[in-house]
Amino acid sequence: MASAARGRLSPMLTVAVTFYDVVLTVHILAVVVAFGVVFSYPVLDAQLRRGSAADLVALHRLHVVLARRVITPAMTVVLIAGLYLALDRWSLGDPWISATFAILFVLFGLTGAVLVPADLRLAELAERDGPSAEYERERRKADMFGGLALLLVVVAIFLMVAKPGA
Ligand code: HEM
Repeated sequence: MASAARGRLSPMLTVAVTFYDVVLTVHILAVVVAFGVVFSYPVLDAQLRRGSAADLVALHRLHVVLARRVITPAMTVVLIAGLYLALDRWSLGDPWISATFAILFVLFGLTGAVLVPADLRLAELAERDGPSAEYERERRKADMFGGLALLLVVVAIFLMVAKPGA
């Protein structure tokens, strides 16, 4: 009797999973894949910079491979899934969406036009002369742009979560 009453009173858990939820999951997963590794670069870089010139060459080549094979494809998934979400329930004119849209394009530009060429050049310099003064100069420049990219990702996540103006 008591258990029958408990059965009747227990709340029924119903979970309605929509296609929107699936796309949002893909969007967030792609964000993790695209940018997760980049937040470990300061530790990874500091570790390998203590090593030999060959370690430096390997480090910059690894950056290039990750940018081309992981970060850029994952950013493309972030964009496609984000566009679906925006057009389904929001509007591309919403300021938090248009601002993040612009940030993502800056990130595509920084990756393809600044960071990958800088890593290719740094690999070349490290292979030729090791950690020379020229290498250090170029590395500081690349680190500045890398830091800017990380900051933009943090701003993008804040805009997506807080949705100011929505
Ligand atoms: C660097 C780029 C981006 C990052 C880091 C990012 C991150 C995120 C995160 C973490 C969420 C989950 C927010 C929450 O549920 O509270 C989200 C949701 C969302 N994102 Fe993005 N996103 C990016 C780019 C874009 C772009 C370019 C668009 C559209 C063109 C977009 C559209 C959306 C929409 C519509 C949602 C769904 C909000 C909701 O239903 O709660 N995102 N994004």
